[in-house]
Amino acid sequence: MSIPPPNQPEHPAASAGSAAANLEHVRIATPENHEGDEPDRAPRTRAERARARAKERAESGIGPTGRPLREIPEPPPLERHGPAKVLAMCNQKGGVGKTTSTINLGAALAECGRRVLLVDFDPQGALSVGLGIQPHELDQTVYNVIMERSVQIGDVLRKTRVDGVDLLPSNIDLSAAEVQLVAEVGREHTLLRVLRPVMNDYDYVLVDCQPSLGLLTVNALTAADGVIIPLECEFFSLRGVALLIDTIEKVQERLNPKLDITGILATMYDPRTLHSKEVMARVVEAFGDTVFDTVINRTVRFPETTVAGEPITTWAPKSAGATAYRALAREVIAR
Ligand SMILES: Nc1ncnc2c1ncn2[C@@H]1O[C@H](COP(=O)(O)OP(=O)(O)OP(=O)(O)O)[C@@H](O)[C@H]1O
Ligand SMILES: [Mg+2]
Repeated sequence: MSIPPPNQPEHPAASAGSAAANLEHVRIATPENHEGDEPDRAPRTRAERARARAKERAESGIGPTGRPLREIPEPPPLERHGPAKVLAMCNQKGGVGKTTSTINLGAALAECGRRVLLVDFDPQGALSVGLGIQPHELDQTVYNVIMERSVQIGDVLRKTRVDGVDLLPSNIDLSAAEVQLVAEVGREHTLLRVLRPVMNDYDYVLVDCQPSLGLLTVNALTAADGVIIPLECEFFSLRGVALLIDTIEKVQERLNPKLDITGILATMYDPRTLHSKEVMARVVEAFGDTVFDTVINRTVRFPETTVAGEPITTWAPKSAGATAYRALAREVIAR
């Protein structure tokens, strides 16, 4: 899939009216917002009615993106592992679900028998925390591997509680790397060099980027085969995407010709609000089939998993959130 032109609306508010007008035709359905069984009576509350409508529409075969739901087959088992496909989870906007998606997509890929390495490339260390590791207690992190030639990636990698998922952790030390790398020869290729020795041990390497387009993110894009852009279903989240795509194109031209956008992942979708539906319609209008069919609904279950220190696929395996990330894993494998 080639990178679509940044045909973003110049100002989201500018055509909000027309997007709203078009919504008449955008049928939204989502089975993913069902956190439990529906009561066996007519829906009474607003939320129940919204869920009933969503169910009706899901049964009509239209997904939350307004496109027909496609059946994506179970991925075939692998006969051997590697070389890994590297995917950068990237959006310079904060709090859009990059880390949540890295953990849960990683865990869902592992359920499909894929070997997964998760790279925490954010000095906040949220990915490490989300997997139950306290970053400030670590002696060595990804920072040491990228800055010290004597430290090998194997010295820092660790297994997680999730079968088939390993972690390259990070902590606040990594914030120094952004400055220190500037003086290095081949500074944009540092992460790629670091990952090379383990590429044959994994099927997927997911790099959780920090919310910026600085040198660390450029390193992730230079090492990557594809980018997954988590996008919160909220108007302001559309604003920065043109700049992000511009950066991806520059990296593709100058540093990494194989780089591609694997997909745009709509997150924190609330099927009960017109606002979420409007944003979704705009995203699909702008990016077409680059948008994953799978949409991640807003649910308190995700913040809960951070506290639990494990992915939703093991913490609440039957939840709608777990089902959604499993569907995303199938889409990612199929793309
Ligand atoms: N689908 C969701 N529904 C509700 N809350 C969510 C969802 N996805 C993520 N969250 C919560 O939103 C917050 C931000 O999510 P997350 O840390 O994944 O975003 P991020 O893009 O990695 O943020 P940052 O840019 O700071 O790294 C977290 O508290 C997370 O638990
Ligand atoms: Mg994050």
